[in-house]
Amino acid sequence: MSETISFVLDGKIQSLDFTGPYTPTTTVLNFLRSSPVHKGVKEGCAEGDCGACTVVIGELGEDGKIHYHAWDSCLVFLPMIHGKQLITVENLKQQLAGKEVLHPVQETMVHSNGSQCGYCTPGIVMSLFALYKTTNRPSKACIEDALTGNLCRCTGYKPILEAAAKACVLEGKDQFNKEEEVIKAMLQEIKSKSTSLSINTSNQRYHQPKTKAEALELRKQKQESVLISGATDVALRVTKKHELLAEIIDLSHVQEFAQQETTADAFYFGAGMSLESIKLFSEKTLPALNETLTVFGSRQIRSLATLGGNLGSGSPIGDTLPTLMAYDAEITLESTAGARQVNMNQFVLGYRKTERRPDELITRIRIPKPAADTLIRFYKVSKRKDLDISTVSACFSLKRSGQIITEIRMAYGGMAAVTKRVAEAEAFLTGKKWERENVAEAMLLIEKAFTPLSDARSGATFRTAAAKNLLLKFWSETQ
Ligand SMILES: Cc1cc2nc3c(=O)[nH]c(=O)nc-3n(C[C@H](O)[C@H](O)[C@H](O)COP(=O)(O)OP(=O)(O)OC[C@H]3O[C@@H](n4cnc5c(N)ncnc54)[C@H](O)[C@@H]3O)c2cc1C
Ligand code: FES
Ligand code: FES
Repeated sequence: MSETISFVLDGKIQSLDFTGPYTPTTTVLNFLRSSPVHKGVKEGCAEGDCGACTVVIGELGEDGKIHYHAWDSCLVFLPMIHGKQLITVENLKQQLAGKEVLHPVQETMVHSNGSQCGYCTPGIVMSLFALYKTTNRPSKACIEDALTGNLCRCTGYKPILEAAAKACVLEGKDQFNKEEEVIKAMLQEIKSKSTSLSINTSNQRYHQPKTKAEALELRKQKQESVLISGATDVALRVTKKHELLAEIIDLSHVQEFAQQETTADAFYFGAGMSLESIKLFSEKTLPALNETLTVFGSRQIRSLATLGGNLGSGSPIGDTLPTLMAYDAEITLESTAGARQVNMNQFVLGYRKTERRPDELITRIRIPKPAADTLIRFYKVSKRKDLDISTVSACFSLKRSGQIITEIRMAYGGMAAVTKRVAEAEAFLTGKKWERENVAEAMLLIEKAFTPLSDARSGATFRTAAAKNLLLKFWSETQ
């Protein structure tokens, strides 16, 4: 067990213990801001919405390459970057023949007039840098997606989009390629010495297991501790509510939780897989899951957030929950006593209450391969198209024999204290024709099934109308 974290920053290995000014829940943003040479990173919101704090993380993949992701540093606790490369806006420029040379993404931002007051600019540059390193000649949609998590109040987005298109044409080549072997050696060195972390300070304990067995054992012993995977939900308790989290089990470094497996009849996702990696995987395999993740948070959020975390929060507006219900997914819950499988329909018991027992962890999610003739679609109604949480969401799965419905699943989020299927409407439609009259009857059953809340997001009347109309939309798109 180690109490010290190590990561690569400014081209060297940096080690940090928690005997000084930093606590295990100091965010990477606050750590960087405390350094005289890393003031480029900014705080706008401290809750993942503005992107002013964006940094890029380099991670050594199983393929031996460094993979780059943009993260909101305001949501990342320091131990979460253990074993990774932290890249800030100050690292992008280089000295060539005694001259300071900007990175291609900085250069095109300057020449496209992509900055005015400059507050958002370091964050935007870092999102563009992650895009530059991962996608050559990105489409307009891809550029927009890469920038969804970055707000700019004065420039307007057109010059920034232009800068992205002009910059990302060099197949990711830059000084980071030249240094890659050296950085890889440093990351390997940290990895080879790295053990699980157990950080104890006067008022906090932070555990970071490396294996599933260790994680389950820790959970058995510390059932009151706060679990984190990506921490995009939990970090807000620190940054916005200023809570002291006394004991944390950080699952982000458990290798087994990051594994994906495909069998003849199902896809399996480790609970710790990032939503961005699942989004990429699902593009060709599970289109409704891909649609769900396309409108989920921003790229920075999805690169941190996990499927286990979205399920673990048990939120009635957790976007993957209705989708997993429509796919008839199964959750694996594990403790040191063994594993059990819970169907998605039995997983959420009440408002943010799930079937998971205190000693259990969500370890993986099984999605059966849908039959070729099954239509599955996800819909999200929110105030903004991008980076917004759902007012109402729905996922429908439909199987027909000719015009006759043989199986239908209709799952809703935002309509009750829990994500819920509408059993009455499903039973009514099964065996009937997929036609407007029957859909109209089913819409009345949806109205009867829910008594939604009115809150700041929306009124109950709107929610009910939206829920009914989403079924109508599904019908009109699939009839
Ligand atoms: C700016 C912003 C935008 C967002 N947009 C969306 C959105 O569009 N849609 C949406 O649904 N959500 C959204 N969220 C909420 C959040 O990002 C998601 O719920 C995310 O999936 C949480 O995953 P995580 O790994 O970060 O969870 P964490 O914060 O690490 O954990 C969340 C909860 O799950 C539990 N947990 C985590 N891992 C496990 C495990 N393996 N076993 C058991 N319990 C576990 C934790 O105990 C905790 O209670 C947004 C959040 C932010 C900050
Ligand atoms: S400060 Fe706004 S996203 Fe981090
Ligand atoms: S340049 Fe001022 S906020 Fe973007």
